[in-house]
Amino acid sequence: MRDEKFIDLLANFGVPPNMIDRASIGFKAHLKPLYQLLEQRTLPDQGWDDSQIKLFLYYLSHLDSDKDPGALRIGEREGRFSSDLLGDLSGGFFHGIGRSGNLTAPQPKAAGASIMQKITNKIVLSLIKSLGLTNIKAALTVPFGTGMSIGLALRGLVNHYNVDFKSKPLVMYPQLDHKSPVKGIEFVGGDVCIIPGKFGKNYYAPDGVYVDIEDIKQIYHENSSQISSIVSNTTFFAPRVPDDIKEIAKFAKQNNIIHIINNAYGVQVPSILKDIGRAIDAGRVDAIVQSTDKNFLVPVGGAVIVSPDKNIVKSISHTYAGRASASPIIQLLVSLLSLGKQGYHSQIKQQQENFQLLKSKLVAFSKTIGEEVLECNNHVSCAMTLKNLPKKDLNELGGKLYNLRITGPRIIIKGDSNYGACLKELPFSYIVMNAAIGSKAGHISESISRLQKAILKIKENS
Ligand SMILES: Cc1ncc(COP(=O)(O)O)c(C=O)c1O
Repeated sequence: MRDEKFIDLLANFGVPPNMIDRASIGFKAHLKPLYQLLEQRTLPDQGWDDSQIKLFLYYLSHLDSDKDPGALRIGEREGRFSSDLLGDLSGGFFHGIGRSGNLTAPQPKAAGASIMQKITNKIVLSLIKSLGLTNIKAALTVPFGTGMSIGLALRGLVNHYNVDFKSKPLVMYPQLDHKSPVKGIEFVGGDVCIIPGKFGKNYYAPDGVYVDIEDIKQIYHENSSQISSIVSNTTFFAPRVPDDIKEIAKFAKQNNIIHIINNAYGVQVPSILKDIGRAIDAGRVDAIVQSTDKNFLVPVGGAVIVSPDKNIVKSISHTYAGRASASPIIQLLVSLLSLGKQGYHSQIKQQQENFQLLKSKLVAFSKTIGEEVLECNNHVSCAMTLKNLPKKDLNELGGKLYNLRITGPRIIIKGDSNYGACLKELPFSYIVMNAAIGSKAGHISESISRLQKAILKIKENS
């Protein structure tokens, strides 16, 4: 990247100096954002084009020892590969990240990957702060999905605070019907203690499924000698509302228990980030986990763990076993650099508009069939009741939507398994539709008109 030297060497090739001067302006302008990133270490305002990103990855990956043409590579792990395609798929980083079970330790064979990882963590931290969660101090991008990352964070915190997890294995978990956080907790030796959801008016919205802080307190007091932690949740399908994280944070502080927030897809919702910030200020929040694919438009496989305490992030990174794949980190870096801060903010704006479109269309449709859209204040999905369709028709509706090539809606049927509703007794059946970050307005409109046709057809035939 020594562009001055490069330009100097272009003299005396017979191209007039004024042309070289003019050409060097554009050349340097192309490279300028790369220098700015290394200096400022925050997400650039404007997204980069792919040629700039490729150049950046090329330079960094060529700092790794497998690219040294003079290196004699006699170890068992030397970044050897069978196909050039693997280089494309891994961004050129064959040595992964971390060292001897510390995810952030600089890897002697991989100076470039180590820098790439540090830059990614810094820019994702700067982005999340710019979206409203200002009181976090460090971020760690890990090559695990959300559930496994909750497990990693939990084990890191147990180590950090020297908790005797064998005698205090219980992890309180306000009911959220997704198996992966539960499995992540169990993977590291925790026993999940679910606090059941309830339906009705609550601290967050006029309607919805919520978990009562008084129930959390009661279960804690009945089992306190065995409880080490609580994992709360901010995002899920409507009508589940976020947990009362501020009260939970106060409670965690009073009782000296670990508090992890599962913020699976909450980076795209600024009001949720602000609520997390308030919870940090009011009490105890040790770590917050967010999925990379659900927030940052990348393939499945990573998560970002942030914390108001840098040392906690260090302890979590020390808990990882072995060296790790660099791919989810590179994918996040590429996505963030291509969007830039402005690009990500405009994705959020688009998500908000799409959500309003989804809600207004569903509300209008629900009125024509005697149903209602629940007022649960969810910012990503809407739940419309299906009280007037018998169970057999609801089963048929699920199949019809699948055949109509709509992916993503969920139908929860009263009387079937309640799983997904986050409470014991379902008051009614309902359908959930989403308008998450990256979704398209055209898909939302068209899926509602197909839903409308499918329901009207079923009603006609029944
Ligand atoms: C709230 C919540 N937690 C956890 C998960 C699981 O994520 P992963 O598959 O990345 O573990 C999801 C998936 O949608 C989710 O919505």
